[in-house]
Amino acid sequence: MPGRSEQTLIKERRETAMLNKGVQDAINEQIKNELYSAYLYLSMSAYCEAVNLPGFAHWMRLQSQEEVSHAMKYFEFINDRGGRVVLQAIDQPPIEFQSPLDVFQQTLEHERKVTAMIHRLYELAVKENDYATQAQLQWFITEQVEEEKRASEIVERLKMIGDQGPALLMLDRQLGERGSGH
Ligand code: FEO
Repeated sequence: MPGRSEQTLIKERRETAMLNKGVQDAINEQIKNELYSAYLYLSMSAYCEAVNLPGFAHWMRLQSQEEVSHAMKYFEFINDRGGRVVLQAIDQPPIEFQSPLDVFQQTLEHERKVTAMIHRLYELAVKENDYATQAQLQWFITEQVEEEKRASEIVERLKMIGDQGPALLMLDRQLGERGSGH
């Protein structure tokens, strides 16, 4: 049984590890943003299925799952820091798209927005001297470079393809080979 002073020390240590309210709110907001991304990509997957592009649909379904795993990383981080996860309402994503190119242009644009959100979150963590959150966010900052690069490469390929059906089907087959690790 620890003595009174030890108890105080344990309490202080726990408070130091705990998240500041503003940072916690911002991470909760980011959980929602990641889940919205999952919803958006799942909607894009449904569109791709509807226009008979199963490879694109598969790619988007995996992308959606990846976004859920991002949300869960933040979820676990809040719990590990002794904070409280507060789930928020998720907006309805768009349902219709113009073309596969439109899908990937919107993906790229969305990922750029997510990158900006993570940068703002990082700036807050710096302002609050929250080093653990900064370390956690480093992973996401690196991940965003990869996410933007992937979307941008597919946008460029789709622009080159234009309205050439066989080339589009070839890309569809290639996107259908995406594994769950990437
Ligand atoms: Fe979770 Fe696509 O960023």
